[in-house]
Amino acid sequence: MPSPWKEGMIEEAREMEQVKEMEHRIENTKALTLAIESSCDETSAAVVEGLRTVRSNVVSSQIATHVTYGGVVPEIASRMHIEAIHHVVERALAEADTTLDAIDFLSVTQGPGLVGALLVGVSYAKGLAIATGKDIVGVNHMKGHIASNYITHPHLKPPYIALVVSGGHSYIMDVIDYDHMEKLGETRDDAMGEAYDKVARVLGFGYPGGSALEKHALEGSPTIDFPRVYLEKGSLDFSFSGLKTAVINHINTEKMKGHSLNSPDIARSFQDSIIEVVRDKTMDALHRRGRKIIAISGGVSANTALRKALEEVASKEGVEVYVPARGYISDNAAMIGAAAQIEYALHGPSDLRFTADPNMKL
Ligand code: KG4
Ligand code: ZN
Repeated sequence: MPSPWKEGMIEEAREMEQVKEMEHRIENTKALTLAIESSCDETSAAVVEGLRTVRSNVVSSQIATHVTYGGVVPEIASRMHIEAIHHVVERALAEADTTLDAIDFLSVTQGPGLVGALLVGVSYAKGLAIATGKDIVGVNHMKGHIASNYITHPHLKPPYIALVVSGGHSYIMDVIDYDHMEKLGETRDDAMGEAYDKVARVLGFGYPGGSALEKHALEGSPTIDFPRVYLEKGSLDFSFSGLKTAVINHINTEKMKGHSLNSPDIARSFQDSIIEVVRDKTMDALHRRGRKIIAISGGVSANTALRKALEEVASKEGVEVYVPARGYISDNAAMIGAAAQIEYALHGPSDLRFTADPNMKL
């Protein structure tokens, strides 16, 4: 009879074998998916071959329209998706030099996002699935952001720590293998991009303000000591709303005193504060899990200061930091197609009765 120790070894070997088998299946799939994304203010369609090859990625942005209102207007977003979706899909197929016939399966963002916006993509993709008899996969938008790094970095594979920071969500995830990830931390109030947008708005930088705020911060110095909110000891969660309030209070106080605002200094001090906390918590997660790679994704991964701050500390420990290439940072269908390849290879198609899920969790 084998000893418990030996049984443990056999079990471990079997698990390693299963992970290898799973990696092999995902890395070697050549399936073609037509992916659709419509969760917020970008209508996008892409043709993606296997996990990492993007044959086309067409993005029609509504930003210019929403700028007038200082934020995304959900009703307008839905209507604009309806107007754009068919043309965007046709262009994605044409640019990939393929036809719907050649597509192996359809994929679409199921959530999270604006319900009316999501429904346009989900209904359109389901219609195509029914008309063609092809499989369809509903994809979590945040898993899409995580998958954007697989497209950009051909050698990236789990395990690693994913920092996913966008306008609606902020997560620190331990990506254990292609099929398993564990949430280590998330925001308890505002998302990181949302904090940037709100501070940018009070500083008059327009919408969406993240990248404008970063540019102004380059001209400033960290002269104001805004709070660094770490929450209770050991927590990997974030809370950004206190920092946002501190910035607004500072601006109001300066105005009341009749001082002119030094916007670049405020932007720089805000940015230093938020990045320091995000950097420290990400490194803490990395150490706890013994990982050697950090992959940043989501709209805020466009921020150079965030990437540099992490690279500076990570490089001292031989840890690599990855960010997606330009075209795959903000919302796009290619990343949805890449995430769908993992889902399809491991779990097959979604049940056709699935529907848009505005609050879908990671
Ligand atoms: O992922 P994304 O395109 O859409 C969502 O799913 O939310 O992220 C958009 C967010 C916005 O809040 C935007 O201000 C922020 O990403 N962002 C930035 C930068 N570029 C975009 N935040 C900070 N620095 C940037 N350079
Ligand atoms: Zn997004």
